[in-house]
Amino acid sequence: MDILNKVKKYREKEEELKWEGTFGEYLGIVKERPEVAQSAHSRVYNMIKSAGITEKNGQKMYDFFGKEIFGLEEALERLVEEYFHPAAKRLDVRKRILLLMGPVSGGKSTIVTMLKRGLEQYSRTDEGAVYAIKGCPMHEDPLHLIPHHLRDDFYKEYGIRIEGNLSPLNTMRLEQEYGGRIEEVEVERIFFDEDRRVGIGTFSPSDPKSQDIADLTGSIDFSTIAEYGSESDPRAYRFDGELNKANRGMMEFQEILKSDEKFLWHLLSLTQEGNFKAGRFALISADELIVAHTNEAEYRSFISNKKNEALHSRMIVMPVPYNLQVSEEERIYEKMIQTSEMAHVHIAPHALKAAAIFSILTRLKESKKQGVDLVKKMRLYDGENLEGYNDVDVEELEKEFSDEGMDGIDPRYVINRISSTIISADTNSINALDVLRSLKDGLDQHPSISKEEVEEYLNYIAIARREYDEIAKKEVQKAFVYSYEESAKTLLDNYLDNVEAYCNKNKLKDPLTGEEMNPDEKLMRSIEEQIGISENAKKAFREEILIRISAYARKGKRFDYNSHERLREAIQKKLFADLKDVVKITTSTKTPDESQLKKVNEVIARLIDEHGYNSTSANELLRYVGSLLNR
Ligand SMILES: Nc1ncnc2c1ncn2[C@@H]1O[C@H](COP(=O)(O)OP(=O)(O)O)[C@@H](O)[C@H]1O
Ligand SMILES: [Mg+2]
Repeated sequence: MDILNKVKKYREKEEELKWEGTFGEYLGIVKERPEVAQSAHSRVYNMIKSAGITEKNGQKMYDFFGKEIFGLEEALERLVEEYFHPAAKRLDVRKRILLLMGPVSGGKSTIVTMLKRGLEQYSRTDEGAVYAIKGCPMHEDPLHLIPHHLRDDFYKEYGIRIEGNLSPLNTMRLEQEYGGRIEEVEVERIFFDEDRRVGIGTFSPSDPKSQDIADLTGSIDFSTIAEYGSESDPRAYRFDGELNKANRGMMEFQEILKSDEKFLWHLLSLTQEGNFKAGRFALISADELIVAHTNEAEYRSFISNKKNEALHSRMIVMPVPYNLQVSEEERIYEKMIQTSEMAHVHIAPHALKAAAIFSILTRLKESKKQGVDLVKKMRLYDGENLEGYNDVDVEELEKEFSDEGMDGIDPRYVINRISSTIISADTNSINALDVLRSLKDGLDQHPSISKEEVEEYLNYIAIARREYDEIAKKEVQKAFVYSYEESAKTLLDNYLDNVEAYCNKNKLKDPLTGEEMNPDEKLMRSIEEQIGISENAKKAFREEILIRISAYARKGKRFDYNSHERLREAIQKKLFADLKDVVKITTSTKTPDESQLKKVNEVIARLIDEHGYNSTSANELLRYVGSLLNR
């Protein structure tokens, strides 16, 4: 389907969703589907819930956020369970401004944007449908038409509590256009849309001297004032401030703690009483979620000012820390790259992981727990199974600091460094070393990193580099051995045949010639030496293995590669040691012979076909690992 077709389909669908009718007809809808009359907070909560909730290890995961926000499950659970959920139930938190607090580029704006775009979508579904008095600039809730003295009766019949007063404008319209007959007032279905300023607003403070409160609460319309004769005629007022427009939905208040007090005081009454003052009118009722965001330093200075006490008590602060899991951090980078102009660039495998290791290390706090260094903590947080540690240990570590993740390197720094490297090198392929180098080179220019931190961070880059070296070596070695498991098994069988013959003082049969031969002492020793078994201890070790094998046989179990911990280690090391030489020779020789060349080409092909490299990055990897092994 081409794009114009899609546009047409979309328009037709929008048309289908439209509804207009009288207030009387609207009440019919309310009776059938009371959710159309839910509060703004309730709608947000139901939207989040309806996308699905899964549970993993007792941790709630909200699919609503899951597509774009990674590694913040705990913060999001808190946000939903401590704010949206109780607010939806009309508990008092609903009357507070939601303040997301966290370090720069930690996902706060992304969360707010997801809520906005989510609401736009949700208002187009049956469950999320919203209706308003037709022609009202604030899309007023039609139920406000029900007079106060009948609201108890309404509750008895409909089970819905109505909050808020009919606005001055609609009070006037009701009299003048409908002669007071509320059942005839026209109602329409509305669709949230930030661009069209329906139900979604953004207030961003500019210069306090020039900024007008009108941006928030609307203003006198001087073009019509002559017509209506008075400033207090609501028809001579433009209800087009962000607070007006966001009614029924949500308003984002950017830089809230930087903004002038006069703007904040309006919010006080709105959040506290559900109404705000505009022009010369009675208070205007509004029902909207107000979300703001800030960083820790700004927040601290805000609460340290006594003057802000009243405002502070009207806010609920929800921390949004940095993600602390390496694998989730990789996903963040992948997402950011996908949506950038770098989407076509080849990023070699593990390059983002190397960067992620560095970033996470800068965010973690050193634990006092015995034996848990930063790298170990990083692995445990990332869900790795480390011997001697379990889930309880991880939980303890997470609880040790309440403010972990509130500082460190931000994802945007990493992405900016990667992108500037790509641009300056004019390349279409970038690997882990390029990334680490570029992260290092940028540290001096990072605006919020002190001299001492630079030292510390250089150390983290070195650690990330070591971690990468290990990954790179394993990757190449694996690519050299066609099937690692297969080779391990063959080597083990070979060793066991020889051990058996040695202990029983037997000869072995050459599988090809059938010739009798002595056990291969050199082979056995080359394996045993890997785990430090001395010449004197070899006999005991071999006998122990045989005993283990017969014990297994008695129980009808097969002795394999995993049946003897130390033997497994020895086999592994031996395989890698053998390989090391091959890898070393093949990767570092300047003039490879024909068979070496063939091997290298095979390995490169495997890296490309099976491990996600391109020919540039595969060649770079081989050269790098060659140099590592030759050190
Ligand atoms: N935990 C996270 N999950 C997914 N993306 C993230 C996360 N943290 C940061 N980002 C990404 O980093 C960038 C900056 O995030 P942003 O929401 O603007 O941060 P903030 O508003 O907190 O400064 C965005 O592209 C965002 O998607
Ligand atoms: Mg932001």
